[in-house]
Amino acid sequence: EQAKKGGFDHFMLKEIFEQPQVLSDTIHPRIIDGFPSFTQDGINDNFWLHFNRISIVACGTALHAGMVGKAIIEKLSHIPVECDIASEFRYRNPIMTKNTLVIVISQSGETLDTLAAVRLAKLRGLPTLAIVNVPGSSISREADYTIYTYAGPEISVASTKAYSVQLSIMYLVAMKLAMTTGTRSFEEIRTLSKGLLEAAEASQQVLKLKEEAKFCAQQFAKIKDLFFFGRGLDYSLSLEGSLKMKEISYIHCEAYAAGEMKHGTIALIAPDVPVVAVCTQEFLLSKMIGNIKEVQSRGANVLLITKEGMEIDPELYNHRIDLPALDDIFMPLVGVIVLQLLAYYSAVIRDLDVDKPRNLAKSVTVE
Ligand code: G6P
Repeated sequence: EQAKKGGFDHFMLKEIFEQPQVLSDTIHPRIIDGFPSFTQDGINDNFWLHFNRISIVACGTALHAGMVGKAIIEKLSHIPVECDIASEFRYRNPIMTKNTLVIVISQSGETLDTLAAVRLAKLRGLPTLAIVNVPGSSISREADYTIYTYAGPEISVASTKAYSVQLSIMYLVAMKLAMTTGTRSFEEIRTLSKGLLEAAEASQQVLKLKEEAKFCAQQFAKIKDLFFFGRGLDYSLSLEGSLKMKEISYIHCEAYAAGEMKHGTIALIAPDVPVVAVCTQEFLLSKMIGNIKEVQSRGANVLLITKEGMEIDPELYNHRIDLPALDDIFMPLVGVIVLQLLAYYSAVIRDLDVDKPRNLAKSVTVE
């Protein structure tokens, strides 16, 4: 087993470090002459013309990739997108009009609730597109179309590299839809494709923040509760950061949309309850600064995750981590890596079983 870890202490760390490579593997074959293309997945350009609504369904980390997907598809293509928890979707009698594309996301391709979503959509006569990592898995067999992510086997129960490649497919789908619907010019799509490739490369730089993440985890060595907050894409990212942290460190964490904290949750803020403020979206900066002030004035220690060049008064945080400055839209791709590292070191410091956290399974094939 030690050999399989390739010199890393845990599979999770190895998988975090594989992200630049698997991103490149997943994205490169789907950018042809500067434009997104899924012909290698058996999906031709006409396919994307038919939809005026999209429904994304998934569980856990894949759901969080879907939430980012919803935001970027709507932003780029103006097609309305819903994003559902699979176990809710199947019992809420969802309204599924014709011309809706149902996209399911699953690393294992075996999650029962997600599989049930595929079956329900098919029963209603809607086309299903699966974004799956494991070849030949149940979901990929039952869905009408599958786009495989090329993360390779993910051993650690806490999902890391699978999330990143799921995100990368979400970007490509959003660009493809924007191209088809004509909401973005070809020139803009070309720039976005380039931006995605650059974001994948920038993930290499984020791995260098390992020691900084470790230092911050050490500052959190004694805490029992932790909040993550952000706005827009940073909120979706906060949900994933918080999930990762609770899964393996057992710290009680919650993620909030920063503007919503004041409607109740702020009552829980105290000097021993730090806040990880995810603040990478330039257009939301002034709003986030207001929210950081709200928690800081209640005594919270603030760990700020932002990007190079964002002007934020050093009085407002205890520690600042700078991500590479990419376009706002691509920040989740680099931001998640730091959050994964923070969770990883928080578990290591607590001497916990990082790769096999208690009560969790890699693949949930029961309800
Ligand atoms: C389990 C795993 C999570 C994963 C979720 C969905 O809870 O522990 O890491 O995100 O299932 O799994 P899937 O294979 O469908 O992506």
